Amino acid sequence: MIIIKSQGEIKQIAEACKIVAEVLRNLKSFVKEGVSTAQIESYVEKEIHKRKALPAFKGYRGYPSSVCLSINNQVVHGIPSKSSRLKNGDIISIDLGVLLNGFYGDAAITLSVGDVNPDAKKLIKVTEEALYIGIQNAIVGNRVSDISSSIQQHVEKNRFSVVRAFVGHGIGRLLHEDPQVPNFGKPGQGVRLREGMTIAIEPMVNAGGPDVVILDDGWTAVTTDGSLSAHFEHTIAITKNGPEILTK
Ligand code: MF3
Ligand code: CO
Repeated sequence: MIIIKSQGEIKQIAEACKIVAEVLRNLKSFVKEGVSTAQIESYVEKEIHKRKALPAFKGYRGYPSSVCLSINNQVVHGIPSKSSRLKNGDIISIDLGVLLNGFYGDAAITLSVGDVNPDAKKLIKVTEEALYIGIQNAIVGNRVSDISSSIQQHVEKNRFSVVRAFVGHGIGRLLHEDPQVPNFGKPGQGVRLREGMTIAIEPMVNAGGPDVVILDDGWTAVTTDGSLSAHFEHTIAITKNGPEILTK
């Protein structure tokens, strides 16, 4: 069931989203060579608590941490650890959700650590572009798969592949609401987009093939072929004046 939000509810989601965006922005200078993913998690927790919000992922279906940190061939849901330190040339995807006054915000970025090779840079750029192309298609009257297919086309035009195993989602009083928002598919399918829908669009893009496997920790998704993977996500509201990015 898709929950249409009032303007008041969208304002509240936007408040949660603002915190997500601020913390991600601050992380851009914190994330560097030598920092462990456990240190990044503590920093994120401090930043969230300063703003009187809660980390949305901690305990979600048993996920053990406050933020998902996925390095290089890790696609999503990497678990922070003291022994995992960033090296020059790494890429790291940071996925962050917060809960504020009963409403969720969710976004992700992929950052480079030091000097990253041109292929990795291009992967990051194309994934972010694919997110914005998907957002441009999140307009009243389009269908969900118009977002999906526009993302897939941009990615494949650049000879990368979109992950199928995880998808974007509606968001609001729940972290995951209907509809699912895949990053692949034919245009013109799925539900029609309506004013008042709030959704998280989140392309995950692999440099090699689309397949992923889950590690023994039960969470970390890695590319089956060992290739690099990038992830960008925004929470948006669909308005009569077009898509409004709430996690900007
Ligand atoms: N942004 C991710 C999503 O929407 C959140 C990770 S789920 C968690 O699916 F379990 F790790 F919290
Ligand atoms: Co999400």
